[in-house]
Amino acid sequence: MITATLFSLAFATTVSAHGYATVPSSRTRLGFEAGIDTCPECTILEPVDAWPQLAGVPVGRMGVCGYNQRVSVDYNFPGSDWGAETVATYAPGEVIEVQWCVDNNGDHGGMFSYRVCQDQAVVDQFLTPGYEPTEAEKDAAQACFDAGLLPCTDVEGQQCDYSPDCAEGEACWGNQWFTCNKFEGGDGTRGCQGVDGAPLNSCATTIAGGYTVTKKVKIPEYTSNHTLLQFVWNSFQTPQIYISCTDIAIQ
Ligand SMILES: *[C@@H]1O[C@H](CO)[C@@H](O)[C@H](O)[C@H]1NC(C)=O
Repeated sequence: MITATLFSLAFATTVSAHGYATVPSSRTRLGFEAGIDTCPECTILEPVDAWPQLAGVPVGRMGVCGYNQRVSVDYNFPGSDWGAETVATYAPGEVIEVQWCVDNNGDHGGMFSYRVCQDQAVVDQFLTPGYEPTEAEKDAAQACFDAGLLPCTDVEGQQCDYSPDCAEGEACWGNQWFTCNKFEGGDGTRGCQGVDGAPLNSCATTIAGGYTVTKKVKIPEYTSNHTLLQFVWNSFQTPQIYISCTDIAIQ
């Protein structure tokens, strides 16, 4: 039984591909565009209890910016093509559009969120050339990002639904995170691809083509010349969490 479970988990990782943050350009997207990361949708924390509780899972080596184990690319410190500079500047309190890309072969449904950690000393651990944060620092940083969740409901007029795959009373029952559509929904409307209902290849993935997933978040009343916007997607179908981060300024 244990063997079968381990086998099916290993098998799941080899056949399915998943998602990563794309707008504003995450470190993962920059690594992909530079030709360094050949599977940007494959940065996965697994196997973990990703559902129905959403937060409080230790990120470990994965860190707050993601470590792509499949291609051995670590986004938790600046690389040749990411992390040295910010890619976008926002005003405190500004409402911005954010987007990620889900692969056609790995649309696991579930819920996703964006965060800003409002502690510059913590964030600086992930901005320092030549410094690799320890696993303890990564877990402590994740707690700061969890505390800096940017709720769906902070954006005036935005529809914030409860997950159709979550039952009332479960830990996933809430609308602060964003939800994908029902995992077993109909073609074109199911899962995370159903959020935008955009055509296949509306964004780039490497396995089976991507679908955009677009939402709005409100930047916190906080300033930093260089901080990180974190993206986290908890899968409903698989014991997996996907993490990316983006270098931004809030001025
Ligand atoms: C950002 O940089 C400017 C210019 O160096 C500086 O005056 C300002 O205090 C910095 N802002 C923050 C929030 O650190």
